Amino acid sequence: MHHPHPVFAGENGVVSTITTTTRLEVRQLVSSDAAFLFDLHSQPAVTGPLAMQPSTGIPEELQRTERFTSLFGDALDFGIWGLALLDGPLIGLVLLKPLRPLGDHDGFEVGWRLHPDSWGNGYATEAGSGLVELAFGPRRLTEVFAVIEPSNDRSHAVAHRLGMDKIGTLEYAGMSHDLLSIQADQWRSSR
Ligand SMILES: CC(C)(COP(=O)(O)OP(=O)(O)OC[C@H]1O[C@@H](n2cnc3c(N)ncnc32)[C@H](O)[C@@H]1OP(=O)(O)O)[C@@H](O)C(=O)NCCC(=O)NCCS
Repeated sequence: MHHPHPVFAGENGVVSTITTTTRLEVRQLVSSDAAFLFDLHSQPAVTGPLAMQPSTGIPEELQRTERFTSLFGDALDFGIWGLALLDGPLIGLVLLKPLRPLGDHDGFEVGWRLHPDSWGNGYATEAGSGLVELAFGPRRLTEVFAVIEPSNDRSHAVAHRLGMDKIGTLEYAGMSHDLLSIQADQWRSSR
């Protein structure tokens, strides 16, 4: 079957699960997720804190996802993924990926972005915890970072709930951000 966007994962009918938590699944993105991503990136509550322009439509979302996939590898070990309710619809995006090339740093970051309809349930914190487990377990990292705009209180609150501390600042995608981190031994002793 011909696909206009063949670089997407899961086009062979298999959508890989990256990790699961009590209520949530982190999974590969597929091209049929673009309608949700358009809705997500049309929300001022989401685009505002991310300093991004509202999405212009599904083609932009397909292009964006293709770009991320090509920037950050095969998107199975590290990448940007869909966050869904277990056996349910997408509610946002999460990531575990190298800070480069967007930031001049050798580390790996965790990140979260939820549709406002799903805020206030602890989903970002639960997903973040699953990503940190993935980072320090199967991916064998010893430290993970988060890159958060200083005024993004909700995102700082998520990082704080995970036990991350501010360690400095980082130019990321051309803007100054707070750089937070947690180390594997710190994470293990806090569980
Ligand atoms: C950052 C973002 C993901 C945080 O979402 P969130 O819903 O505030 O975070 P959580 O999922 O951890 O939920 C925490 C809230 O749920 C409540 N909650 C309910 N059940 C909970 C549970 N089991 N565990 C933790 N919190 C729970 C908390 O009390 C808290 O409520 P509050 O909003 O009244 O403080 C969201 O604001 C967002 O997508 N923002 C736009 C994109 C963005 O800025 N991304 C980050 C870029 S660095």
